[in-house]
Amino acid sequence: MTSAPVRVAMLGCGTVGTGVLALLADNREAITAKAGRPIAVGPIVVRDLEKERQAIVPRALLTRRFEDALEADVVVEVMGGTTPARGWILQALAAGRPVVTANKDVMADHGVEVAAAARAGGVDVFFEAAVGGGIPIIRSLKESLAGTRVRRIAGILNGTTNYILTRMSEAGTELRQAVAEAQAAGFAEADPRADLDGLDAARKLAILSSIAFSARVLPSDVAVEGIGGLSPHDIRNGQRFGWVCKLLAIAEQAGGGRISLRVHPAFVEGSHPLAAVRDSYNAIYLQGDAIGDAMFYGRGAGSLPTASAVMGDLIEAVRFLGQPARGLQAAEGRPALLPPGESVSRFYLRLQALDRPGVLAQVAAVLGRYDVNIHSVLQTPEGERSAELIVRTHPVRESSITNALTELGRLEAVAGVRACIRLQPDGL
Ligand SMILES: NC(=O)c1ccc[n+]([C@@H]2O[C@H](COP(=O)([O-])OP(=O)(O)OC[C@H]3O[C@@H](n4cnc5c(N)ncnc54)[C@H](OP(=O)(O)O)[C@@H]3O)[C@@H](O)[C@H]2O)c1
Repeated sequence: MTSAPVRVAMLGCGTVGTGVLALLADNREAITAKAGRPIAVGPIVVRDLEKERQAIVPRALLTRRFEDALEADVVVEVMGGTTPARGWILQALAAGRPVVTANKDVMADHGVEVAAAARAGGVDVFFEAAVGGGIPIIRSLKESLAGTRVRRIAGILNGTTNYILTRMSEAGTELRQAVAEAQAAGFAEADPRADLDGLDAARKLAILSSIAFSARVLPSDVAVEGIGGLSPHDIRNGQRFGWVCKLLAIAEQAGGGRISLRVHPAFVEGSHPLAAVRDSYNAIYLQGDAIGDAMFYGRGAGSLPTASAVMGDLIEAVRFLGQPARGLQAAEGRPALLPPGESVSRFYLRLQALDRPGVLAQVAAVLGRYDVNIHSVLQTPEGERSAELIVRTHPVRESSITNALTELGRLEAVAGVRACIRLQPDGL
């Protein structure tokens, strides 16, 4: 064992980077023992040299010059975004430096390019922190579960929306107010659209399914619906049936070699382990041929949990430094996708209708015309002339529901289709 320190350049020193420094300081002895050599961080590339920082950040090591980072043995990228992060990661790999990154944007959109650069540079790239923060899901999928054929991934991959849905479920808070509370608690960005619209979850799902299904899955392959249309009223209705509303990211084998990829709100049975994932926690529920069901649960974000994933990768990079790359087995073939319209779900529908004879029959006739098999109907009067109709369906194609809802919306007796929420997939 050589005792010469390994020099680790860090690109970025914000929430995660500062966590990496803190973790290294707290657990230095154990980390050195596990890595086989001491780790010396520096230089640290940042945007603003004058910015106020926590005392743990060694100001003398800060620089704005990326080129300085190439003097180090390993590069840790914790700055985020695509530009300049993507280019810097590629340059570091081309220069033969192993890279550890927490960057889901780069890995989701440019994973194949990054893997190719790593191969060309003869080094490895590690990205455990890019999905699920402190939850060790990437290495589990790549290595521990490599012998299992994954049938389905159902994840709560975005802590911001899970926090918001928890507030809406447990306190009856309106969406807008819940977003404000998430921002005040530090769980939502000033501009939370990528979270609310499901795009953040779609990126993470693309990364996970690329590994699980050995195919190059892109975020644009994922059919996405965010939580913007949800109301506490529907969440409460769901609770009456014993359901909890979650934003699920689902990737599953759909028969014929095709996979279905989607992010959308869904009602989950209260007894399902995913229903117990509250606040900003994340979870990934896996179903595979050999493993059966498994769930990974934990902090999907935050300074130290994410730094924990970065540090695990860094220790591995240091342990294998100078040895032949073990390679990111990035599949380049594109997956065969199930068109979103062919995806099959059970639905909760809420309609506002006139309270008069024959309306239910009209609604049932439209649903029947599009092969929507009704499971149950609950009618509740709303004032003198109006009623709320809650229809639960048996499994039905998305395209059938879409067409049926369009026609229902045209019925004179239906004031509006107020909600359409999927129920948890069969077999989950
Ligand atoms: N925060 C989390 O809980 C979490 C969880 C999982 C994954 N991640 C991922 O981890 C990465 C870092 O997130 P973070 O929350 O730590 O971000 P952050 O707090 O915003 O910090 C970003 C850091 O990168 C630096 N930086 C940004 N643009 C730069 C540029 N053009 N040139 C040089 N430096 C630049 C910033 O410099 P200044 O300090 O000078 O502004 C800052 O130090 C992202 O990819 C994120 O998606 C974060």
